[in-house]
Amino acid sequence: MLCCLSLQNVGLGVIAGFAVMLISHFVRRKSRPSLNGKHILITGGSLGIGRSFAIEAAKRGANITLVARNMNNLQAAAADVQKAVIGPDQKVACLSMDLSGNFEEIQKNIKSAEEENGPIFMLVNCAGTSLCGKLEDLKDDDIKYVTHLNVLGTILPTKAVITGMKERGEGKVIVVASQAALIGVYGFCGYSATKFAVRGFAEALRMEAKPYGVTVTLALPPDTDTPGFAEEQKHKPEECRLVSEEAGFSTPEVVATKMLDDALDGKFYSTVGLECALASYICAGFTPPFTALEAFLQFFSIGFLRLFAVYILDKMDRIVTDCKNKKEKQK
Ligand SMILES: NC(=O)c1ccc[n+]([C@@H]2O[C@H](COP(=O)([O-])OP(=O)(O)OC[C@H]3O[C@@H](n4cnc5c(N)ncnc54)[C@H](OP(=O)(O)O)[C@@H]3O)[C@@H](O)[C@H]2O)c1
Repeated sequence: MLCCLSLQNVGLGVIAGFAVMLISHFVRRKSRPSLNGKHILITGGSLGIGRSFAIEAAKRGANITLVARNMNNLQAAAADVQKAVIGPDQKVACLSMDLSGNFEEIQKNIKSAEEENGPIFMLVNCAGTSLCGKLEDLKDDDIKYVTHLNVLGTILPTKAVITGMKERGEGKVIVVASQAALIGVYGFCGYSATKFAVRGFAEALRMEAKPYGVTVTLALPPDTDTPGFAEEQKHKPEECRLVSEEAGFSTPEVVATKMLDDALDGKFYSTVGLECALASYICAGFTPPFTALEAFLQFFSIGFLRLFAVYILDKMDRIVTDCKNKKEKQK
């Protein structure tokens, strides 16, 4: 009888704990900070995910600075962002700079953007490019360029804003990585290396920034319908295309809205779709859970998910081997 009662209590305790986690999950979602009058600087803001992000942030009252190289694309994007603003005082500015360039230049430009639009509340490191092909087929200069842009083009702008954010006791940094930051697949030796690098950067920065009220969000978009993705498709080896078909596909609007919500919530990982959420669970490691509910779900699912990962990896390896055999037969 006593044993039955205590089992009942344990059961009730688990249900109550689960309910508290669910409630805390939704309470946190509701307390998103307002973006009214806040300055958001978006690198890669002229096209694709960055442009959609700027439009979504403008709809919520933010002042926007778009950063990219091509001034025509910047101005076209700024006109679309301007249409989305909700108040007469909202500002939209363009900044043409090469993020694969030197730090002094980046720092000087970011400082002038702050003088124009106010201190940066959120930095979105979205400028980036893909590099696709077998390692032996990649050009050395292309490997160097993608490393400079994707890695230093993220670290250096962040270095330029982090001191100010810490001094003000608020700020949000988004690092746009990719699912290629969680899993290295055929054809992405150059690209995955850069995205794994910024993942490490985001993890370390999160710990440095947390005591100062500054949060870091690592975005892991799936394949997304952007000009950059269309370009990548032209150079994808068959193996890479077949393996990538296993993952999801999204629109820049969905990815950008999710990134903004997740950053405002203070989440570390920003994912879109079930596959990516599950991949982030498998790779959670030493990253902070958003809520106790998330930690609970990770704890109970990790064993099963590991088996699932082994199955997927084996499937991908078989696709690559089949392609090799097919090519050898054709020869
Ligand atoms: N699309 C996808 O499927 C996908 C999936 C996962 C992750 N991502 C990541 O998401 C980010 C955005 O991707 P996207 O597909 O939206 O890219 P996109 O359509 O190619 O747009 C790239 C943006 O970055 C800017 N940019 C490129 N090189 C630059 C440089 N050297 N200096 C300054 N700005 C530069 C571009 O403008 P300019 O060329 O005028 O400079 C443009 O505004 C990238 O980091 C990418 O790796 C994309």
